[in-house]
Amino acid sequence: MATKQKKSAPKAAKKVAAKTAAKYGYFDDAAKEYVLTTPATPIKWCNYVGTLNFGGIVDTTGGTLVCKGDPALNRITKYIAQMPCSDFKASTIYIRIKEAKGYKVFSPFVVPTLTKMKKWECHVGLSYMRWIAECEGLRTQVTIFVPTGSNTLLQDIQVTNISGAAKEVDIIPVYEFSHFEAEKQLTNADWVPQTMTLKGHWEKDGHVVLEQYAYMKRDFAVNYVTANCKVGSFDGDRRVFLGANEMGSWAAPLSLANKELSNSECDRGDNIAALMIHAGKIAAKKTFRTCTQLGQEQSLKVAAKAIKKYRDLKNVDKAFDELAAFWQKYLATIQVQTPDAAFNSMVNVHNPRQCHTTKNWSRYLSLYQLGYGTSRGIGYRDSSQDLMGVMSHMPEEALELALNLLSVQRPEGNAMHQYAPLALAEDNGNEANAGDSREKKGVLDENGNPAYADWYGDDHLWIVLTIANYLKETGKMDLLKKEVPFYEAGKKRAQREKGTVLEHLKRSLNFTRTHLGKHNLPLLGFADWNDCMNLPLGAESSFNTGLYAKALLEMMDICEALGDKKSVEMYKGWYEDVKKAFNDAAWDGKWWVRWFDKQGNAYGTNKAKYGKIYCNSQSWSVISGIASGERAVMGMDSLNKLLNTANGVKSSTPGYRGFDPNVGGISTYPPGAKENGGIFLHTNPWVMIAETILGRGDKAFQYYSQINPAAKNTKLDEFESEPYCYPQNILGDEHKQFGMGRNAWLSGTSSWTYQAATQFIIGVRASFNGLIVNPCIPSKWDGFKVTRKFRGATYEIEVKNPKHVCKGVATMVVDGKEIDSNVAPIFTKGVHKVVVTLG
Ligand code: GLC
Repeated sequence: MATKQKKSAPKAAKKVAAKTAAKYGYFDDAAKEYVLTTPATPIKWCNYVGTLNFGGIVDTTGGTLVCKGDPALNRITKYIAQMPCSDFKASTIYIRIKEAKGYKVFSPFVVPTLTKMKKWECHVGLSYMRWIAECEGLRTQVTIFVPTGSNTLLQDIQVTNISGAAKEVDIIPVYEFSHFEAEKQLTNADWVPQTMTLKGHWEKDGHVVLEQYAYMKRDFAVNYVTANCKVGSFDGDRRVFLGANEMGSWAAPLSLANKELSNSECDRGDNIAALMIHAGKIAAKKTFRTCTQLGQEQSLKVAAKAIKKYRDLKNVDKAFDELAAFWQKYLATIQVQTPDAAFNSMVNVHNPRQCHTTKNWSRYLSLYQLGYGTSRGIGYRDSSQDLMGVMSHMPEEALELALNLLSVQRPEGNAMHQYAPLALAEDNGNEANAGDSREKKGVLDENGNPAYADWYGDDHLWIVLTIANYLKETGKMDLLKKEVPFYEAGKKRAQREKGTVLEHLKRSLNFTRTHLGKHNLPLLGFADWNDCMNLPLGAESSFNTGLYAKALLEMMDICEALGDKKSVEMYKGWYEDVKKAFNDAAWDGKWWVRWFDKQGNAYGTNKAKYGKIYCNSQSWSVISGIASGERAVMGMDSLNKLLNTANGVKSSTPGYRGFDPNVGGISTYPPGAKENGGIFLHTNPWVMIAETILGRGDKAFQYYSQINPAAKNTKLDEFESEPYCYPQNILGDEHKQFGMGRNAWLSGTSSWTYQAATQFIIGVRASFNGLIVNPCIPSKWDGFKVTRKFRGATYEIEVKNPKHVCKGVATMVVDGKEIDSNVAPIFTKGVHKVVVTLG
């Protein structure tokens, strides 16, 4: 099987590789990769492969967390995220070289052998990871990915002899399995190991397929590991593989001292899949290539087709090319060329990529959200927002998830906080839950009534924005007539009340309209966007006010497009009512307050000692238009003065100084962390959007740039988090570790920063009448270019800024003809040139 080594990346990539060796790695924009040059990242970094249907996390030292459909209920590999970076986590590869006496063993991932490498790179790519490691005269290239639409994780391993003499080499890939119920694996050491089963199936020609399942899944879902080539032996029992009753370690498994493994099956216990692949003598300059498969199907019989397919290396190459083609097409939806390289890199590659990830995994599975039990799942508010980040790229996939969300909306109009995807598919009447509000269930107020709501004040409102987004992007108004069930716990879908999508949206708005507090402002519910502020029932929220008002604006657009003037007028009335109530009650003198508790006490007021000012009431009152004129500007200026830092805008200040049971969650964090005065990044794009609405492009761009992770690549000892995606939070300036990022990947920051950048700074957004071009940019820019696909046509847009303004379209020329607005018409096909001059 000696083949020529497959080229790893385009030539341009090599050029960049001469580069600016930042301490940990560099961006290779031509290859659309981040290239890590050391395994010793400040904290664990990772990448995602596949989708929620099959896929998961691959960390930078070869650990893989693979699930199918649901991380809590169908987990495949046992990745314990809390173990140190240096420990084995669910998978590795050992490379073994025969020496005069015994063997030399190393892992190209560094972990778990911790061998020093001559050269080491981890290429974080678009849904793949690739390592290039040089050690002991061998160059190993490993690529891990999931072919589009498949249930298989491939590991393409190529070992090239770069020394002068032939070497006898073995390759030993290993996976460790988890019980499918992820939490049980950690909490039950009796039942779980009794059920875990691994069997080896030899094929006549020397191939082996290792089959693994928990006993009760034997006839329904089996995991398997196999390779494209013959293997000498295998091990399925961890104790046997590590040796000496597990006094042998992952760093140095004792079984690797023997020519062959023991062919151990595992009738109970810790199941692994270790294959002994004899590459044989690799001559100088020659390459040995093999590819392993880890998959799950109903049975090995069902798996046979996929096994056969990916045993052919041509199909492996084809699958990799298809993956690249998917991303090429996906990213082509919106491409920008602006004077700012870090902006281009984020907007053209990494941010849309992260949006694809949050769309898939919501807040379910990351190195921070570990995907155990029912504490998470697909979040109603989170996913509604995530979908807006992929709407231009994959509207139909987004819609599918949006309809699932609508199906866990209650008939009353409010929504369940989250659902488990597998339970939804099983239609068991128990698929959704009320999130953290369950913790306060049963707490009574002074009158013996429930003290806290079991619903969130914001969940059901986000989906109005999401559906409006879909309709504007696609123009498919028929969706509004589609019937979707409401959620009635305990009932099967068919028995539940149904309503059209339009009816669902109406009930969302109506719920808020009929759940107002003392000041006629929308009730908080258990929480609004800020999960950590759980005031007793009766509290009102400025955030929900802004979101409700924005949702009303979107609904007016929808009704207008439907020609339903009466409804437009009605919702306009509701909008004016809430705008007035907000202006009457929520102005604090220099900014907008954030909440009122049920007694009417304000939070986020200058009079308070802690939490004097909150970011979201300033930004959302501008986004929704309920703040206008002087107050809108003053609120945003106060935000700038009191909340802005060089690393981003803090969500509030000052932070609470100790646990206060009256405010709960927010005060469990030290000041400067997370919602308690930390830089909760999700709020930052709202600030950018609000500034573009005020026309202040320089400020909007400053807010954009100060949180751009790509720009932090030279500050990683402070930032620590992956520079190729947004983290959820950065510690604020009240904290000693100001500037440190945490909770990478699964954050609403991704969708909203993408929206802020593309729709408000670049200013190109879908509407019912066409493509709006209304940029708000730094005044120093001479202009920029953007290509946008919209309703079947491609718009090549050039924006000129001869007068160096931030905002204001003076002229728009479409295909050579000046038009009297800044909305480019809907074409449905072809390439169209749009030239916009600001001034
Ligand atoms: C987390 C939650 C999100 C919430 C935010 C602020 O990101 O996933 O739902 O809005 O925290 O509390």
